[in-house]
Amino acid sequence: MKIAIVGLGYVGLPLSIQFARSGVTVLGLDVDAEKVELLNKGRSYIKHIDSAAIAEMTKANLFHASTDFSGIRDVEAVIICVPTPLNKNREPDISFILETGRAIAPHLKKATLVVLESTTYPGTTDEDLRTVLEEGSGMKAGADFHLAFSPEREDPANEQSKVKLIPKVVGGYTQGCLERATALYSKAIDTLVPVSSCRAAEATKLLENIFRSVNIALVNELKLIYSAMDIDIWEVIEAAKTKPFGFMAFYPGPGLGGHCIPIDPFYLTWKAREFDQHTRFIELAGEINTRMPEHVVHRVADALNERRKAIKGSRILILGLAYKPNVDDERESPSYVLMSLLGQRGAQVDYYDPYLPSIKPTRQHSKFAGKKSVGWNQSTIASFDLVLIATNHACVNYQELGNWAQCIVDTRNAMAGIVSGPAKVWKA
Ligand SMILES: NC(=O)c1ccc[n+]([C@@H]2O[C@H](COP(=O)([O-])OP(=O)(O)OC[C@H]3O[C@@H](n4cnc5c(N)ncnc54)[C@H](O)[C@@H]3O)[C@@H](O)[C@H]2O)c1
Repeated sequence: MKIAIVGLGYVGLPLSIQFARSGVTVLGLDVDAEKVELLNKGRSYIKHIDSAAIAEMTKANLFHASTDFSGIRDVEAVIICVPTPLNKNREPDISFILETGRAIAPHLKKATLVVLESTTYPGTTDEDLRTVLEEGSGMKAGADFHLAFSPEREDPANEQSKVKLIPKVVGGYTQGCLERATALYSKAIDTLVPVSSCRAAEATKLLENIFRSVNIALVNELKLIYSAMDIDIWEVIEAAKTKPFGFMAFYPGPGLGGHCIPIDPFYLTWKAREFDQHTRFIELAGEINTRMPEHVVHRVADALNERRKAIKGSRILILGLAYKPNVDDERESPSYVLMSLLGQRGAQVDYYDPYLPSIKPTRQHSKFAGKKSVGWNQSTIASFDLVLIATNHACVNYQELGNWAQCIVDTRNAMAGIVSGPAKVWKA
């Protein structure tokens, strides 16, 4: 069996590896020629994805990457894993999905299955994508070709999270489409969860991410309340976690980051308006989470104040640029917001992140492009007035940090259990 996977990123690449390991030949399609070239040389460009896994499938002739979509002619199924960001007005931008639809439609054969995996609002697959596929191919979904939605549940850098073992939700445009899609995924994935429609599958993924966003907002709010009462939220969560039922631990932080949680809930907010529905929980969670960096900046000001210093003129080091520990992904990272807020207040801000040696040019954070991570040594770390822990990478030596830094503001409880001088560590 041969399939195509479009979008060889954090989602499409692990999925390609899993299909190839299951004996399915994968044509990997991407618009980024550099990634295509690297992958064909058997090299990964994502830290937590091993080059050996890429080399294994290219050597076995089970994977080939290309920018040429005409290869769609020779495959039985096409899986789409392209980005779904928000535009500058924070509205859904499904242009990557539609572009992909237009690129594959002219090459679609009868009976080909097309599955969308990108997170999006209900209706994207059976309205928006279906329309461009039907227009471009002259065929009808459900009758001439098959159409389905199956959300990815990737958890980058989580060793326990294996594509094969994570149950996969699948919804089809018709019953026939669902059967084709479950037959495809059952080749590579152990447990499938069929649902009644593409929309139900799209809504399932949004529920999962909204659940996280709302619960993170809840612990972020409790952090502020408990902190005012001189109670440590981290201690409280550890204690609550011992309840064997009805509780799931979420952790506070400096703000939301990554490609999913800060973005996906607003796909539903936008779509809900069409149905005159309000998404109050989502809006409130967004409001609380986006205010977190401001709270952190206040703690930085307090910590410096205690040392008779102001933010203005201070040298501040942000520890961790990635949005979560142990990954090299800095999309939507709150570290950028912290760098901006502190910079606006006159601080001289640098960062340290062993996984992101320099900041690549992006539309969102162009002013930071080219900035380099500082080195990890005593004289460099001690030269900063304050170190702000934004991400708790496991490879960082926090005892050294405790020994070297003048003052630390910790948003991740990374300094728990570390012996450091009195009044040196401020939780935020
Ligand atoms: N990263 C995650 O942990 C995660 C988890 C679950 C779901 N998702 C969802 O999966 C989707 C993909 O996310 P990602 O993190 O893999 O993104 P990514 O940016 O890592 O990868 C997307 C890839 O698509 C390519 N691309 C863009 N436009 C294209 C086009 N028109 N044709 C072909 N290729 C194109 C890009 O070059 C890139 O390599 C998003 O909808 C995201 O919300 C991501």
